Amino acid sequence: MKGVLICGGLGTRLRPLTNVTNKSLLPVYDRPLVEYPLSILLSAGIRDIILITGPDHSGDFMQYLGSGEQWNCKFTYRIQDKPAGIAQALGMTEEFIDGDNVCAILGDNIYFDDIGEEIRNFKGGAHIFLKEVSDPERFGVVEMSSDGKVVSIEEKPAKPKSNLAQTGCYIYDARCFDIIRNLRPSERGQLEVTDLNKQYLALGELAATILGDEWIDAGTIESFYEASTLVRNRKLAIAEKITSARASEAITKQPIASAQ
Ligand code: G1P
Repeated sequence: MKGVLICGGLGTRLRPLTNVTNKSLLPVYDRPLVEYPLSILLSAGIRDIILITGPDHSGDFMQYLGSGEQWNCKFTYRIQDKPAGIAQALGMTEEFIDGDNVCAILGDNIYFDDIGEEIRNFKGGAHIFLKEVSDPERFGVVEMSSDGKVVSIEEKPAKPKSNLAQTGCYIYDARCFDIIRNLRPSERGQLEVTDLNKQYLALGELAATILGDEWIDAGTIESFYEASTLVRNRKLAIAEKITSARASEAITKQPIASAQ
């Protein structure tokens, strides 16, 4: 499996923060946003990763991520001249993917679930990750049957059929490239990932996992702010757990030491 890190778009909803840099290079608590989706690919054991970004800040990504040596992976970079959609960005990676399976993740999505295992176990077709949200009309919305099968998927519907949002991590087999070649731009002028997923749904090969933990699309000022707070609270909670685990270890070890 190879990885695609999609950091395109203009970040208009985060202006003025994005006036001079890409959204994925902005800090979320203690590191640039891009490191969170990158960590998902790495946790799935993916070591060959292509980063797609616009021409404006591509140099900044290269400067920050470099060859990948620091992350024990290999980065390839490709420029998407215009923000023409997630499926268009994915389509640009066909040669790089070279017949392999592919996991594409958006550079502004933060996952708290451990989805690395699911990515590693992918066998074929398409697999998406869903999250219950209070504002589904902002996202691709997925309707599920009671036995956990995807029934329908719609991009930003005015009347959502469920509150399950399609999140920004997508796994496909290499057939995705043939499908993308035949997609037509949507009303917003983009090749939509939802239209790609609809084709897999028609083939009966679109699987979905519902996330149990938090998930953030950090593309708006509010969600971006929330991301930093959530990451900080989680990190402090984990650090506290480690400290108290070490302290209790020291206490349980003490009597043994004094008995010697
Ligand atoms: C894109 C997808 C949408 C998905 C979302 C997840 O939306 O089109 O289906 O729910 O990513 O972050 P966009 O960020 O282009 O508005």
